[in-house]
Amino acid sequence: MTTSGGDSPLLVERSDDRVVATLNRPDKRNAIDQAMIDALHELCAELEEAPRTLILTGAAGVFAAGADIAELRERRAPDALRGINAHAFTRIAQLPMPVIAAIDGYALGGGAELAYAADIRLGTPALTMGNPETGLGILAAAGASWRLKAIIGDARAIELLLTGRTVKADEALQIGLVSALHDSSDLLTAAHAIADRIARNDRAATIATKRVFQAPREEHPSVDLEAQAELFESPEKFRRMTAFLERRGRPKKGERA
Ligand code: COA
Repeated sequence: MTTSGGDSPLLVERSDDRVVATLNRPDKRNAIDQAMIDALHELCAELEEAPRTLILTGAAGVFAAGADIAELRERRAPDALRGINAHAFTRIAQLPMPVIAAIDGYALGGGAELAYAADIRLGTPALTMGNPETGLGILAAAGASWRLKAIIGDARAIELLLTGRTVKADEALQIGLVSALHDSSDLLTAAHAIADRIARNDRAATIATKRVFQAPREEHPSVDLEAQAELFESPEKFRRMTAFLERRGRPKKGERA
């Protein structure tokens, strides 16, 4: 495993099949500033080039308390149009391999939107998640208005966005905003267990599944069929299916060969 980051806003630990990236501005509750966005882009470039599962988490018991409000206050219309956070989060969502968000404590505003960009979200009993943006005179423009409703449905999403209400762990689990809750001390272990499961599956099939899942509705089913056609010819498919069938063909326990 290699580690980089030091005191940078993003600590990155790399191993063969996965990368753990930790949002790291604990004294600012990991608020997402331009330097963190730049580091996320750098990481995306690396993972586009050499795809691996990404586990995203936050330092010191917090995921991220939002975009950095000190920077946001100074941003003007042209900055909004550049979609600084929105484009970074879309790049994360579109990474070839799965992204798992391991969320402890606060995931607010842009922090929540970063979590919505993950494929899988895990929380802890301390989870507090939501989009208080309208209270700050802005809207949640980095994914909440399309990803949140895909995750929890239109009715729940619009209620949360219009009220700015945050949800706690139990509600987040109940509405499917996170798929499981684990104690803080077990959170990363649980994320790694999911990454382990993914690593046991065929990599090309995993990449195809994620890509096809994200395809616009009108591209189905042709996008599915083209991806399947490619996989049907892959040596790994023959190897895995043959291994299954030969295992099946073996005498059952207690039977003589
Ligand atoms: N942007 C910039 N700075 C932030 C921040 C953000 N989104 N969230 C927290 N901080 C900073 C605080 O200003 C404070 O800095 P200081 O020590 O220099 O004064 C530091 O982080 C600690 O925050 P504090 O509010 O004292 O911590 P807390 O544990 O009492 O409360 C929160 C935590 C998350 C409830 C609170 O910080 C908060 O409400 N943050 C903003 C949430 C928000 O509106 N996010 C949406 C942004 S679009």
